Amino acid sequence: MEKREAYRRIQELRRLINYHNYRYYVLDSPEISDEAYDALFRELKKLEEKYPEFVTPDSPTQRVGFKPLDKFETVSHAVPMLSLENAMKESELMEFKNRISRLLGVDDVDYVAEPKIDGLAVELVYENGTFVRGATRGDGYTGEDVTLNLKTIKSVPLSLFGPPEAPPIPSRIDVRGEVYMEIRDFETLNKQREANGEPPFANPRNAAAGSLRQLDPNVTASRPLKIFCYGVGLVEGYNFQTQWDVLQTLKRWGLRINDRIKLCDNIVEVVEYCRNFQEIRGTLPYETDGVVVKVNDLEKQRILGEKTRAPRWAIAYKFPAEEAVTRLIDIEVQVGRTGALTPVAVLEPVNVGGVTVRRATLHNQDEIERKDIRIGDTVVVKRAGDVIPEVVRVVKEKRKGTEKPFRMVERCPVCGSKVYKLPDEAIYRCLNVRCPAQIKGSIVHFASKGAMDIEGLGEKIVSMLVDKGFLKDISDIYRLKEKAEDLERLEGFGRKSVSNLLHAIESSKQPSLARFLYALGIRHVGEHMAHILAEHFGSLDKIMSASPEELTAIPGIGDKVAHSIYHYFRNPENLKLIRDLFELGVRVIEEGASEREGVLDGKTFVFTGALKSMTRSEASRVVKALGGKVASSVSRNTDFVVVGENPGSKFEKAQKLGIRILTEDEFMQLVERGRA
Ligand code: IVH
Repeated sequence: MEKREAYRRIQELRRLINYHNYRYYVLDSPEISDEAYDALFRELKKLEEKYPEFVTPDSPTQRVGFKPLDKFETVSHAVPMLSLENAMKESELMEFKNRISRLLGVDDVDYVAEPKIDGLAVELVYENGTFVRGATRGDGYTGEDVTLNLKTIKSVPLSLFGPPEAPPIPSRIDVRGEVYMEIRDFETLNKQREANGEPPFANPRNAAAGSLRQLDPNVTASRPLKIFCYGVGLVEGYNFQTQWDVLQTLKRWGLRINDRIKLCDNIVEVVEYCRNFQEIRGTLPYETDGVVVKVNDLEKQRILGEKTRAPRWAIAYKFPAEEAVTRLIDIEVQVGRTGALTPVAVLEPVNVGGVTVRRATLHNQDEIERKDIRIGDTVVVKRAGDVIPEVVRVVKEKRKGTEKPFRMVERCPVCGSKVYKLPDEAIYRCLNVRCPAQIKGSIVHFASKGAMDIEGLGEKIVSMLVDKGFLKDISDIYRLKEKAEDLERLEGFGRKSVSNLLHAIESSKQPSLARFLYALGIRHVGEHMAHILAEHFGSLDKIMSASPEELTAIPGIGDKVAHSIYHYFRNPENLKLIRDLFELGVRVIEEGASEREGVLDGKTFVFTGALKSMTRSEASRVVKALGGKVASSVSRNTDFVVVGENPGSKFEKAQKLGIRILTEDEFMQLVERGRA
């Protein structure tokens, strides 16, 4: 491609990617498939590699790949980031309104009501539409420069949309917003952390703050952060009239705005909004602790002005926390996949915000000591959204003196072996690799969705199969087919469900390298890390023989992770497990390696009808791993159409165009050959 043409294509690709990014991350309504998006991204990456002189800091390729910092620089906010006064009751909202009408000499004004997201406040500085700097709120006057970390958040645009789609971009605008983590993402992250022996975050807000304030941007990139923008600081070259105007215009420039904001005509509508919002807050994907109410007219805001720390034109209406008081009957100890022991509070059942709570996590021994929680205590329990309930504090006034301090068990409650606390960890562990709790946990993990994805091997079934002696370690999964008849006799298992399970097990035998690595359950190797490793090394052999130095040389991999990987592959038991899996027919698809010499190189596949031995997405993975492509419709560029049961119109079209048709078996043969 000629250089000038390449430049034009680069510009075009960036425009397209930014647009689809916006559809996906800001509007939550994508227009193209993930594959199509990835293709655009890859094309841009390739062109930029060929013409590095065209790379700009706001290119969509420039979100990741930065080295860890030694420390954050401090930056001062051009306009201070104030905090808000709170209204704890509806009557305090009325007082807020009365003060405003008195100061302005009017009856009432219009307001914007916005969800108050529980995360951390940041400022994004855009110069001529390009994101140049971002900082935390800090003390309101100066914050920490977290530019590189903010860049990794996909809903933070690296450049704003300008005309003709949107209003002219100001020469400088400081956008304010809240970085947060959705509740489900928070829970997944905590599960991973507990599995890795890392202390879990107490709540989504701490998780968001901890993730954004990482010196290594690669860590931030691996955390599922989002942003909602809610205001502006310094603005040069644009005149907003109202807060509503601010929000709508920010949205048109491509910034992410909460869609539950409401323009209210008067305080009565605001109160109504607050009541409604309180009702539905438990159904939202994120945590909120209230509603922010702002005078809409910016001129009126200016007249009202501010006190030392907070403006007179806004207030935070706070919801009562979803808390309840109950008795802590006992503290049990749970054993996880890595042997981590987690104390769990057994509670007298209590209703918290409409849900009955019976158990609450106590995280670890240190946490129990810090909060001085004793068995028999009266405690305050909190439940936030879908988050695992937690013991907030003890009501010490209710103590009778009969309460018993918790002592960590000396022996594993599951296998009875001695437990240990490793020097640099907050938690105790059972170190017996044969502990049934660990065996169960590691099998469940191995079979889980992001790993080998074996449907039907969830917690309950695995627990039963381990207890009944069918599974003694991970590799036994692939020996189950020899015991089909015995399985059929188990309670709750019929011929059909056994056949489904065995089928799911068979079709899990060709994992990608990343999935396989993740499935092994190596400490500190989560899904993201597994992908980094797979991409970098391209083959299991290379990973297995990598030295700690080779591992730490990879961005995103620190000493702890490198150490863990290195030692995992030096442990004879682990090596035996891998050997056994291979002997039992597991074949890792080595993407990097096979892509280069893939037999399906450049070939395009279309699937129609249901496949028996794998799902569509597994089939796509296999094709891609061997260098092929998968398309959703048949055209002259299609090389093969794979026909499963009840094929659709694609089958006819393929026949018409004379495209090579493969049965599922033929496809499997082709794939097998590809791997040989
Ligand atoms: S406005 C002067 N709007 O709440 C205006 N704040 O105590 C101050 N927050 O630090 C902020 N959602 O972290 C505003 N829609 C929203 C908000 C919001 C969350 C947080 C923000 C701020 C704190 C105010």
